[in-house]
Amino acid sequence: MTAQRYVCPLREGGSLPGLVEADDLGTYVVKFTGAGQGRKVLVAEVLVGEIARHLGIPTPRLAVVDLPTAIARYEADEEVQDLLTASPGHNLGVDFLPGAFGYDGSRPPSAQDAGAILWLDAYTANVDRTWANPNLLVWHGRTWAIDHGAALWFHHSWPSRPPDVGRFVQQPFDGSKHVLAGVAEPLAATHGRLAGLLTDDVLRAVVAEVPDQWLETTHALPDLDAVRSAYLEHLGQRLARPDAWLGGAA
Ligand SMILES: Nc1ncnc2c1ncn2[C@@H]1O[C@H](COP(=O)(O)OP(=O)(O)OP(=O)(O)O)[C@@H](O)[C@H]1O
Ligand SMILES: [Mg+2]
Repeated sequence: MTAQRYVCPLREGGSLPGLVEADDLGTYVVKFTGAGQGRKVLVAEVLVGEIARHLGIPTPRLAVVDLPTAIARYEADEEVQDLLTASPGHNLGVDFLPGAFGYDGSRPPSAQDAGAILWLDAYTANVDRTWANPNLLVWHGRTWAIDHGAALWFHHSWPSRPPDVGRFVQQPFDGSKHVLAGVAEPLAATHGRLAGLLTDDVLRAVVAEVPDQWLETTHALPDLDAVRSAYLEHLGQRLARPDAWLGGAA
């Protein structure tokens, strides 16, 4: 879909996400390719957001929002105008949840729902869900997971080094600072329930969702198929080796 109107910036967000109306009459929190964090955080958003959806974790629908170059011209704020000008084409739209509250622990999710989010974060090495920055919204009585750009950090080394699947597979996870650590069920139970949902076909479909425009080829990953295969391998192998990350998350 295509953006029709840039409404306002969401000042809380570090990457200056903005509220945008699109031609499907939807309102989206848009994360821009031209933001300082780069396209890889958008790749992580899609991969982890879609994995969350397959696990039954409430998470806003994601969409690709096309930004026509003309939109920047009507923007008065110079910082926002620069961001829009730097972000032509495909950007990430996150379905806006109107009236959602930031998570403060006053209405915690069930032990099973909390376990699922903690398990997701351990599996995808997402350290960005602490009390300082919960990245959870409470909406319609449930706890929704947002903001997955910091997960799957392994791709940030790809331009300088070839992929190192083994390093990511063995990366431990420290769940002690996690915002849901005190609420989640014992994670062995969560693992038993969730791991089997992420079949090879599911992970392949998730990796296929990432738009070509956001994938970066490198010397070691010379075409988009190679880049997608590298993501698939990291996700598949870490799932198969929970011994490295499940214990620390518990
Ligand atoms: N889908 C949504 N519906 C309603 N509000 C949202 C949505 N997504 C984000 N927000 C609001 O915008 C804030 C910033 O979003 P988000 O955390 O995804 O951006 P970010 O730039 O990655 O932030 P940061 O790096 O500062 O954590 C959230 O804390 C939340 O208050
Ligand atoms: Mg955030």
